[in-house]
Amino acid sequence: MTERGAFISFEGAEGSGKTTQMRLLAARLRTLGFTVTENQEPGATAIGSQIRRILLDPAHDEMESMTELLLMFASRAQAAAQIILPALQRGEIVLSDRFTDSSLAYQGAARGLGFETIMQVHRLALGSLLPDLTICVDFNVQQGLSRAHRRNLERPGEVRLDQQSLDFHLLVAEGYRQIAASEPQRFRMVDGTGTPEEVAERVWTEVAPLIERCAHAVR
Ligand code: TMP
Repeated sequence: MTERGAFISFEGAEGSGKTTQMRLLAARLRTLGFTVTENQEPGATAIGSQIRRILLDPAHDEMESMTELLLMFASRAQAAAQIILPALQRGEIVLSDRFTDSSLAYQGAARGLGFETIMQVHRLALGSLLPDLTICVDFNVQQGLSRAHRRNLERPGEVRLDQQSLDFHLLVAEGYRQIAASEPQRFRMVDGTGTPEEVAERVWTEVAPLIERCAHAVR
C-alpha cells in the first residue's frame, strides 16, 4: 500500500466476469466520491491498443511465446508511464483489467516460460510497480470459455488467445491458483458464481479494508 492512492488489479480466466466486476467496483467507488482511473491490458493507451491488435489477431498463430510476453510488457510499460503512475501520484484509485499476474498465468504457466522469466521482464519493464490488491474472479473454466466464445462473435479480430485449447486454459487457472497460494495477502480468489451483484458483494468484502485505509485518496 502506497501513500499515493491505491492500485487494484482484476484477474481471471476467459469469460470469468472480471471486466464486469471491475466496472461495478469503479461505479461503487465513484458513488463514494473517489476519483477512479481505469486501465486495460493489453490496450488502454493509443500505443497499447495497436499492440493489443497484433497480440489478439487470430492470423498471428506463428507468434512465439517470448514475442507474446514482450508485447504484453510493452503495452504494460506504456500504460504504467502514461496512465497508472501519474494517477497514483495524483492520489487516485487505479483499477486495472489484468496486470502482470496475467503474464504469470498465461505466458509463465500456460506457455511454460516459468514465473521467474516473467518476473525478470517485470523488473526490467516496471521496476517494483505491483498492485496493492488483486481480485481474481474464479469461475468454471469450461463455462467461462463458452461465454468468451459467444462474446467473440462480436469481436472476431481478438480471438487468438481465447482460441487456445481447453488444456491451455486449465493451465492458466492453475497458474492463478499458484499465485494465490504464494501471495495470499495481495492476491484474493473470489467465487465468480451467481449474479454480477452477488459477485460484486464478495469483491467488496475483499476491497473494503484497503479503501478504509485509503482515506487520503482523492475525492
Ligand atoms: P481480455 O480478453 O481480458 O481483454 O485479455 C486479452 C487476452 O490477453 C486474454 O486472452 C488474456 C491475454 N493476456 C495474456 O496472455 N497475458 C497478459 O499479460 C495479458 C495482460 C493478457
